[in-house]
Amino acid sequence: MATDPSLTCCRYLLSAILAMEPSYCLISHAKACGEGSITEQVQQFILDHCLSTPSDFYAPYLKNFLKKLITQVESDHGSVLDKFYQLYAQYITSFKDDSLDKRDSRICKRISFLFPDGCSELQTCSHSSVLNFPLQCSINMLEGDTGCSIWPSSLFLSELILSHPELFSNKVCFEIGSGVGLVGLCLAHVKASKVILSDGDLSTLANMKFNLELNNLNVETGTAQRNEDTSAVKCMYLPWESASESQLQDIIPDVILGADVIYDPVCLPHLVRVITILLNQRNMDSSSKGLSPKCELENGEHYYKGAIDGSEGRYKSVNNDGCNGQPKEAPVAYIACVIRNIETFNYFLTLGDQANLHIEDLTELLKPMVLLPYMQSYNQADIKLLCITCSRKIVLQ
Ligand SMILES: C[S@@+](CC[C@H](N)C(=O)[O-])C[C@H]1O[C@@H](n2cnc3c(N)ncnc32)[C@H](O)[C@@H]1O
Repeated sequence: MATDPSLTCCRYLLSAILAMEPSYCLISHAKACGEGSITEQVQQFILDHCLSTPSDFYAPYLKNFLKKLITQVESDHGSVLDKFYQLYAQYITSFKDDSLDKRDSRICKRISFLFPDGCSELQTCSHSSVLNFPLQCSINMLEGDTGCSIWPSSLFLSELILSHPELFSNKVCFEIGSGVGLVGLCLAHVKASKVILSDGDLSTLANMKFNLELNNLNVETGTAQRNEDTSAVKCMYLPWESASESQLQDIIPDVILGADVIYDPVCLPHLVRVITILLNQRNMDSSSKGLSPKCELENGEHYYKGAIDGSEGRYKSVNNDGCNGQPKEAPVAYIACVIRNIETFNYFLTLGDQANLHIEDLTELLKPMVLLPYMQSYNQADIKLLCITCSRKIVLQ
């Protein structure tokens, strides 16, 4: 009988509860722990390890889980521990009304990334095989709180960052439409040299800052400054519609990230413009310093105003701002998305093409590890990963 918290199925059940996965998912994990049925030992495990969760845990969620659990055990003709009936009765009397007051519509989900055995040698998980981020979220996903929910693409980008830290470590990383800030937490964890998060919604931005502080990160706000605290995560108010080159002039990212930002056709021209500005910042910076945006092929040949294939890394821009005089790779954008409307997605591709962006589908080439195996509400296979670079014609001199 699997009721040891260190066992995989028990860890999945506990992680799923902390992440507030839907009840059907919890029931399925509970059954797996009991090899097909929610035995008394499994129920005791739930009482001892899952319902003694932090006090800020969302009561209506636990109440709903208890109801589903009791119903399931009864319908399987199993025996329900008395303690479950008592707890459920307590929830019924304490929380009669499940209709939610909007002011109290924030909950705290805990997202646990579970690293497979043997991964402790990886930089990302040197001390523990579990990485846990508490995140304040909204329960009203579709009522003006879009950015206060955790969307599947940010789970995907987070898995990508933790699976391939070498793509982000020691790099200046800029995220657009950052939402709750999960991607930023992962970037800070893999030691990006600078993490800059942004969003165009002020309540989302406030929630993001709360989450960064909840996870013990220093938050820096205001306009971009040189000589700033590089350990702090910067949060920027950046509506794509009004974003200007001058607003972004001090931000010279190596990596631009975006999760679930391709969904509103009205915003897409502005989104593409922002991505284009950010991808060209290095060249702008070099020009303003009198350096030419000169590039070189890996075989040592040079070209100017070149652009770059991010995935193969064959072309590298040379503009003396790399470490120790080493050339710095040209910037690249990783955009993860769920294609909910193919016309909207194709519109994004068309706009990218018009802006001379090279958009490559990396979904099959750059797969992250499955670090959220207990999440049945999220499936890596639903996500597309785009790699975007500038694609101006390469002119060999
Ligand atoms: C679907 S949510 C995704 C949030 C987060 N990246 C995630 O995947 O969990 C889209 C995010 O983009 C932001 N956003 C939408 N339109 C925007 C705009 N025009 N300018 C700036 N941010 C915008 C929203 O506030 C929200 O945080």
